[in-house]
Amino acid sequence: MAKDPGRVLIFDTTLRDGEQSPGASLNLEEKLAIAQQLARLGVDVIEAGFPFASAGDFAAVQRIAQQVGGESGPIICGLARASKSDIKACADAVKPALHSRIHTFIATSDIHLEHKLRKSRQEVLGIVPDMVSYARSLVEDVEFSCEDAGRSDPDFLYEVIEAAINAGATTINIPDTVGYTTPSEFGTLIAGINQNVPNIGEAVISVHGHNDLGLAVANFLEAIKNGARQLECTINGIGERAGNASLEELVMALHVRRRHYNPFLGRDADSPTPLTAVRTEEITKTSRLVSNLTGMVVQPNKAIVGANAFAHESGIHQDGVLKNRLTYEIIDARTVGLSDNRISLGKLSGRSAVRARLEELGYDLTREDLDEAFARFKDLADRKREITDRDLEAIVSEQVQQPEARFQLKLVQVSCGSSLRPTATVTLSDDDAGERTVSAVGTGPVDAVCSALNTLAGIPNDLIEFSVKSVTEGIDAMGEVTIRLRRDGSLYSGHAADTDVVVAAAMAFVNALNRLVAGEAKQSLHPQKDAVGPPSRPTL
Ligand code: KIV
Ligand code: ZN
Repeated sequence: MAKDPGRVLIFDTTLRDGEQSPGASLNLEEKLAIAQQLARLGVDVIEAGFPFASAGDFAAVQRIAQQVGGESGPIICGLARASKSDIKACADAVKPALHSRIHTFIATSDIHLEHKLRKSRQEVLGIVPDMVSYARSLVEDVEFSCEDAGRSDPDFLYEVIEAAINAGATTINIPDTVGYTTPSEFGTLIAGINQNVPNIGEAVISVHGHNDLGLAVANFLEAIKNGARQLECTINGIGERAGNASLEELVMALHVRRRHYNPFLGRDADSPTPLTAVRTEEITKTSRLVSNLTGMVVQPNKAIVGANAFAHESGIHQDGVLKNRLTYEIIDARTVGLSDNRISLGKLSGRSAVRARLEELGYDLTREDLDEAFARFKDLADRKREITDRDLEAIVSEQVQQPEARFQLKLVQVSCGSSLRPTATVTLSDDDAGERTVSAVGTGPVDAVCSALNTLAGIPNDLIEFSVKSVTEGIDAMGEVTIRLRRDGSLYSGHAADTDVVVAAAMAFVNALNRLVAGEAKQSLHPQKDAVGPPSRPTL
């Protein structure tokens, strides 16, 4: 394989396919913060978004290309449907990056051709080379995907792929769009492509897959054995429906079991050279950042990044681990950056100590952002004796949620107890209506707060999820609240942390309301569900 990179390339699509998860939408600052962290993690490619979707999506991809796509940075990629207007918008958005890529796609399964595209196989075979060569006229690096490849006729796939490579595609991506295939089927599909596409040696084979049957990671590992060299995945496995293949699971499977996978890349089983370029110690921090900003809570038993992934509860296990760690542990928690959450700072710590610790944690803040972080730190230190790294992470990740917000929470007061009717008084500042205060009663303090906020905001919605978890241990720990609101079938999440869970709930609710108004104003296109229509590019 002429194009074999000799290792496995990690293509992160958290900001594109991950952000397509219901309720996971991110603002520009949040996307930038995640992209910067993905660069520190060491991914090869960041798929930063679908630029044609809206002016906001275009601006986010462009900012990431400018600020993260530098000399030693990753390739910055944008998604485009197989249409000239999508491809042109994508090329413009990724242009500032030193290494830029256009990822264009069209469906190839008969069910998509008949019901979604309403096109014949011949028509698709005509569109593919036209669009790939158009993309190649704008950038050097073009990826082409056959959407729903997992359910496509392999003989038709071979023809489409050959045409795409002849037109200049440098990466060919094979998505299991609906998460339908099994590992052996997916491996066979990749092997078939390797054997039957005459020019396949001129492109890198990539895989993309959804987790509807919980098989995405297993499918990818089988694909590597059969020649795939790029994995498209997301942090915490977020994505449409059951999500995408999870980056941390793939990277750690290739790390822990490299003796098993090395020979499939033509290496000695004992070769110590890592199979991916990911800095595994950055995994935990990246996972927390993505969870905090998207509001997608990580299940406690999730492999690698779940709260229980390295906890040894049972007495027998603990005894074994104390005698020899390897009895029940296959990964040292430090490999994924899970430190002992060491107590770092307190009430008397100064600005430079806070800055130094934040820098050690990988947060390089501007002067204004540091001022704000320090003010929040001081406020927290008045209420909490010891400030841990997790607390600092919660403070910083909350900051990037603030810009562009229509609503600002100014005051929350509640009275409740065994013989009181829970009552909340809330002051909200609204860009449209100014600052107002109301009181409301509820079944509990959180219900009373939400009811007051709903009266003030005047935006009907259903609260469909409310979850609280503590950031660290101890009675004075910060509580993290995640809230999900539904309006007109769309979901919006909000997230906040405070030592007072009622205050955290109010902040999370306001955060969700801000996302709701921003989401409704944005009216983005969905790359897979919206048809390529008249070429009216959104006003940029
Ligand atoms: O799942 C899918 O097929 C996709 C493509 C756009 C690559 O996300
Ligand atoms: Zn997908």
